[in-house]
Amino acid sequence: MKVLVSGGTGYIGSHTIVELLNNGHEVIAFDNFYNSKPEVLNRIKTITGKDIKFYKADMLKKDELEVIFNENEIDAVIHFAGLKAVGESCRKPILYYTNNICGTLNLISVMDKHNVRNIVFSSSATVYGETDTVPVDETMPVGHATNPYGETKIMQEFILSDLYKANNNWTVTLLRYFNPVGAHESGLIGEDPQNVPNNLTPYISQVAIGRLPHLNVFGNDYPTPDGTGVRDYIHVVDLAIGHIKALDASCGKKGVFIYNLGTGKGYSVLEMVHAFEKATGIKINYKITDRRAGDIAILYADTEKAKREIGFVAQRGIDEMCRDLWNWQKKNPHGFE
Ligand code: WQD
Repeated sequence: MKVLVSGGTGYIGSHTIVELLNNGHEVIAFDNFYNSKPEVLNRIKTITGKDIKFYKADMLKKDELEVIFNENEIDAVIHFAGLKAVGESCRKPILYYTNNICGTLNLISVMDKHNVRNIVFSSSATVYGETDTVPVDETMPVGHATNPYGETKIMQEFILSDLYKANNNWTVTLLRYFNPVGAHESGLIGEDPQNVPNNLTPYISQVAIGRLPHLNVFGNDYPTPDGTGVRDYIHVVDLAIGHIKALDASCGKKGVFIYNLGTGKGYSVLEMVHAFEKATGIKINYKITDRRAGDIAILYADTEKAKREIGFVAQRGIDEMCRDLWNWQKKNPHGFE
């Protein structure tokens, strides 16, 4: 298939492009480089030996999207482009609602105009909101997120579902990511936060490389085995492969399809720290601090539906996640620069 990847130079987007190319798909991509670097394109070429067609474009500029669709016969879109820092979204809600909602509205209206009606959307487990029931499965109600970033994911799910209700020719796949971590085994691509990392694992790897003094563990008084938050960490290459599986399964089908992409296993913050130390031999200094506003105690996936319907089962364990994360970080101490 000829696949358009929005946000193609981002963390998940770049890893998914590698897997699309490995699986014989033709890739067009665009990005505005708000949270990524052009160097990623060179790395993708080095890893795969293949070229992609790339446009520097912003989904807030409909005319830039029109150029892409006028110049290419696109079969499906995998939509990653969006702002995704939880903390930043609390400080800048207008930026997040404008970019993520208006951007997606632009994209789907240009898709509709060009009769491109297969979209795979990068959603998030954050749509489940505060839940006391784990593991979470796709039948569980979409809650209220604890931040504007999460709210934009919920709204985008509703918008895309309404597309199909209005026109049954649409194929909408909503992929709810749990916690993506790690990097491609080559260490050539990986997560490159533009500021101090919000997320746990890039923070740990920056402590390990010496860019940050220690890790702050946000609370150890949660109702969990060691008191720290429990999450479902999934290797980013497994996550990327989940997109290929979902895209292939969508062919010839119409409707709205929702899948958790996780491992079904939860690890606490301290278990993640110890796993990283074991995999790398590097001691991670940390301090226990107050809880972070908006955090929940435990969240991990019920993975049965993805296994049953699209044949997806995460293959990479926590040791490989930590080794690949460290391999990327030590080869790129300052990211893509
Ligand atoms: C994981 C655990 C923290 C940082 C969010 C979004 C989700 C997705 C991933 C984009 C929690 C603890 C963290 C730190 C810590 N976003 N922590 N010290 O909050 O589960 O999910 O990021 O793709 O949609 O909601 O991920 O990595 O921020 O936190 O103790 O410096 O690590 O309290 O228990 P989270 P996270």
